[in-house]
Amino acid sequence: MSLSRRDLLRSSFALSVSSLLGDPVNRAHALLARLPASAPSSAVAPRERLLFDFGWKFQFGHVTDPARDLGLGNDQGDFSKTGDFDFSNEKFDDSKWRTLNLPHDWAVELPFVRDKDLESHGYKPLGRRYPETSIGWYRRVFYIPEEDQGRRIEIDFDGAFGSALVFLNGSFLGRNDNGYAPFRFDLTNFLNYGGKNYLVVRLDASFGDGWFYEGAGIYRHVWLTKTDALHLGHWNSYIRPEVKGNVATLTLGTVVQNESRRTESCRLRWQVFDADGKLVATADTRPKSIDPDDSTTFTASATVGNPALWSPDAPNLYSAVATLESSDRTRDAERVSFGVRTATFDADKGFSLNGKPLKIKGTCNHQDHAGVGAALPDRLQFYRVAVLKDMGCNAVRTSHNMPTPEWVDACDRLGMMMMCETRTMSTAVEGMAQLELMIKRYRNSPAIILWSMGNEEFTLQSIPQGERVLADMVARTHELDPTRPCTAAVNGRFESHFSDALDVMGFNYNLKAPDGWHKAHPAKPCIGSETASTVATRGIYSTDKLRNWVSAYDLNYPPWAETAEEWWKFYAVREWLAGGFAWTGFDYRGEPTPYGWPSINSQFGLVDMCGFPKDDFYYYKAWWGSEPVLHLFPHWNWEQRNGEPISVWVHSNLDSVEVFLNGKSQGSQKVQPLTHLEWKVKYEPGVLEARGTRNGNVLLVEKRETTGKPASVRLTADRTEINADGEDLAVLRVEVLDQDGRMVPTADTMINFKVTGEGTLIGVGNGDPNCQESDKEPQRSLFNGLAQAILRSSRTPGTITVEASTDDWSPTPPAARVTITSKRVDLRPSVD
Ligand code: GAL
Repeated sequence: MSLSRRDLLRSSFALSVSSLLGDPVNRAHALLARLPASAPSSAVAPRERLLFDFGWKFQFGHVTDPARDLGLGNDQGDFSKTGDFDFSNEKFDDSKWRTLNLPHDWAVELPFVRDKDLESHGYKPLGRRYPETSIGWYRRVFYIPEEDQGRRIEIDFDGAFGSALVFLNGSFLGRNDNGYAPFRFDLTNFLNYGGKNYLVVRLDASFGDGWFYEGAGIYRHVWLTKTDALHLGHWNSYIRPEVKGNVATLTLGTVVQNESRRTESCRLRWQVFDADGKLVATADTRPKSIDPDDSTTFTASATVGNPALWSPDAPNLYSAVATLESSDRTRDAERVSFGVRTATFDADKGFSLNGKPLKIKGTCNHQDHAGVGAALPDRLQFYRVAVLKDMGCNAVRTSHNMPTPEWVDACDRLGMMMMCETRTMSTAVEGMAQLELMIKRYRNSPAIILWSMGNEEFTLQSIPQGERVLADMVARTHELDPTRPCTAAVNGRFESHFSDALDVMGFNYNLKAPDGWHKAHPAKPCIGSETASTVATRGIYSTDKLRNWVSAYDLNYPPWAETAEEWWKFYAVREWLAGGFAWTGFDYRGEPTPYGWPSINSQFGLVDMCGFPKDDFYYYKAWWGSEPVLHLFPHWNWEQRNGEPISVWVHSNLDSVEVFLNGKSQGSQKVQPLTHLEWKVKYEPGVLEARGTRNGNVLLVEKRETTGKPASVRLTADRTEINADGEDLAVLRVEVLDQDGRMVPTADTMINFKVTGEGTLIGVGNGDPNCQESDKEPQRSLFNGLAQAILRSSRTPGTITVEASTDDWSPTPPAARVTITSKRVDLRPSVD
């Protein structure tokens, strides 16, 4: 019997996502690839949307020396003529430049530099005092066919850090001054049709934006979009579902732009498809005529009976194809993915999804990952969402900036709600443009339940200007998206009028504040926009300030913060609180807390930079997730501490847990809701065991065994079959085992990687906040027993073999080997 896509979808999402990370990730991936709405917005013929990621040239420029910056700035008249930029002409020689594919982050490739001023961005030499490594030039030669004459051709950057200057065929096209919002340039008039074109992008990362690692370079996708001169407006299409009973009424809208020289008469047709690709609704408009250089809005409505609702447990998606017809011909079309669900915030009842109360169990996350910095291939976005889902997390906050599209896409498709935050709280042109782009870009995404106007604007929170700015941002957001509420992450000065304009009050930390505030503002829904900031080093069980290690028991936090247990106990029991977002899901580069140099990343994560869980992960999994959990820690390799009492903790949601050492009971304890269990156990080597009981029966058993020395290397791939598309990944986990095949939890073995065949190692990591080894070299030490290697396919089908070896001990063990099949797939249309 063959399963329909819907069946596959259902069966897969019934799987726990922990299994998504193991072998069943293949099934999930296949399934994702088959979803009809494969991207938040995708092109439909005659529109072309070509991925523009492959075959770029790169070289560093210079902040102050024109001679090392392609001559830019030699005199004061650099931009006096539009057409005089020879480095974007044929005769310029880029043969010595490095060739690379996007996404690319040059910051992660740089060495670490001990300079206090670089601390917040992770000690990478960017800034005006590092002129040689703060400017990046990208160059790409591409062909445009003669037949494209008459079409509109735009280049779309999903995001690049930081300030961009863009040139084509000798002409200056324009600038962009934001590292997180997408930007585009209309190339139509500047192209050489039927010949080669020379595109150059200069990125200046010498001014930072946030107080966290931001990367540098074209770290998100670039696209070339070709449309008819009569075309749909950019991110103007919206689908607003409203559910009543078992019918969803869709309000459909879009804008058509006429960039031709004649008046055009056209109409819009919408076709709505379910996840099986079945047509479930249509809507047509009457023709309208549009003058040259003018635009017109089209709206319509349609109904879908018995809609399959979107939720974290069942992320059902629909797609709507908007087709623009004129003179019986399709002139433009696009597919927009959306979901049908209701989401409400209530001052007494908290948050409800599809009419049912649902606590928001969220994490804040920055956007970088081990090995790749800010330049995440799409697959890693799915990997990261799956890691968080495995913890029981049902929502993420995009702190503190507009997210990468594929992060939003992963949330839509895997079922993860999102609080989507803009970078700049401002109504000046730049801030407002960022906000508008964010809302228009993502307003069809069912994952997004809340827009955030910004984070901790301490000064604006206290002055009347702040109230005005916020009120105007909220009003504009409501105009563009009347379906979602607005919040902001507020820290301190809660009583000021700053928050009056917010639909949902957001509290950062300050557990003493919400009760009183709620009493004083009984009609305003509330959420914990940022909580916790608990710090922990994975696999470390005693704080060592000399080594910059902080113990992983749920005990440590900076003065403004709280433990996992403290904040969740507070939020879980107050029905009126919608839930909250723990700082953070993943560790991130920069803002090294609680220690500075040599720490290069934060220690706030519930998982480390690679996504390996710390122990607090299991506190949340126990109280956020639905599966039975029994997590015992620490490891049991304490040869230096014979006879000493060791603190043994258990995170469990079972009824009671009994701990044994070498078969001898250390006592049984009842589990109190939302609370960990603790024993003091006198150390002797052997087997520490926890037996967890539910309804009188032992349901789960966990063991920590004293292991021997490392004897062999183990290499495991999350998938052994990937797509030969130059984009797909295998994420490899490296461990060492003792002679009895047990993972050694304290190992720091140096591992060497060798990759042969149709793939490349694009990054390595180990989750150690103090590790300053290169993210790009084919070697990495384990940190507390673990390391990660990220492998990307080429566009040629074949096999990829990865070997992991070590010469840390003798006799040298045989290399561990994994073979990955990279299979032929339809490639995304791309610029050759
Ligand atoms: C918050 C801030 C975050 C991060 C965090 C660390 O106040 O919003 O960006 O800095 O503190 O605890």
